[in-house]
Amino acid sequence: MTDTHIVTIDRHIIDEERKHADASGAFSNVLTDIALAAKVISRQVNMAGLVDILGRVGHRNVQGEPVQKLDVFAQDVIYRAMDHTGHLCCMVSEEVEDIIPIPEKFPAGDYVLLFDPLDGSSNIDVNVSIGTIFSLQRKVSAAERGSLEDCLQPGARQLAAGYVVYGSSTMLVYTTGQGVHGFTLDPSIGEFILSHENIRIPEASTRYYSVNEAYYSRWEPGMQRFLDELKVGDETRGSMSSRYIGSLVADFHRTLLRGGIFMYPGDEATPDGKLRLLYESSPLAFIAEQAGGAATDGRRRILDIEPDGLHQRTPLFIGSSDLVARAQHHHEVLEETGS
Ligand code: AHG
Ligand code: MN
Ligand code: MN
Repeated sequence: MTDTHIVTIDRHIIDEERKHADASGAFSNVLTDIALAAKVISRQVNMAGLVDILGRVGHRNVQGEPVQKLDVFAQDVIYRAMDHTGHLCCMVSEEVEDIIPIPEKFPAGDYVLLFDPLDGSSNIDVNVSIGTIFSLQRKVSAAERGSLEDCLQPGARQLAAGYVVYGSSTMLVYTTGQGVHGFTLDPSIGEFILSHENIRIPEASTRYYSVNEAYYSRWEPGMQRFLDELKVGDETRGSMSSRYIGSLVADFHRTLLRGGIFMYPGDEATPDGKLRLLYESSPLAFIAEQAGGAATDGRRRILDIEPDGLHQRTPLFIGSSDLVARAQHHHEVLEETGS
């Protein structure tokens, strides 16, 4: 008999909760509710070609991006799974400009859920992996039903973070600060089963760099030099290969399991890059650091950034610590020499 055990995500969450002295049970319930929403979204993703769920709804979101039907579906599922539980004081979503209040008819709780309901929207219609990203913060203000202060907290204060990747299988990966754990959905029983316990980012092996090289000419010289260096490789960094899926969750999940670096730098036109701090970069940075990796904006640790806007963007360098440090070196050389 192998020594593996069958552990569902609900059991794992309860066990994790016990490691937190101030745990109230609400924390576990929020994570369990997220897993429920993930199952519903996964079912819809897997049938996307069969039901009227593909394509655009015709309007643009707060980011100015065309909203796909699955974006709306995922947003609605997460909202309806979370709005009545009494655990949240408010929510923040990529798809909604302002703070999402908990309806007055429901009790408000002590946590804030920040999420990207459907990441990688451009890949929905071509059957490429997409995902959901979430971050959990504790309410810090006196406002019973939450306030901007509760939403604009640095990533270092996150209680939990995770993502769901809807790929060849559906996986949910999360951390509560006690390591990173991955669960694979068994659709035949509707359970997320522990499949990747204590994930650690490999440091030296055949690793991947992941960036949209189409933007090379727009990057600052330090970033261009770093990519040129990765292409040459050397004995310390091992050989590298390039992979870019265009879904942050899928590109990050590969980086987490295989090592390497994912980058979305800023450029002349968009100095802060494209990815959002609160519900994309911060949660993945928490996971990366918990798995022994690192995440910066090229200069600062992502988790130290003090947010000043719900949808503010940040450049992102995330993955194996040695490579993230190397990217930071090139940015620092640029600052010191100006070229
Ligand atoms: P979203 O679909 O939530 O807007 O996120 C899309 C993001 C991210 O998933 C991915 O890394 C990035 O867009 C790809 O951007 P480019 O097409 O500019 O490379
Ligand atoms: Mn996204
Ligand atoms: Mn999205």
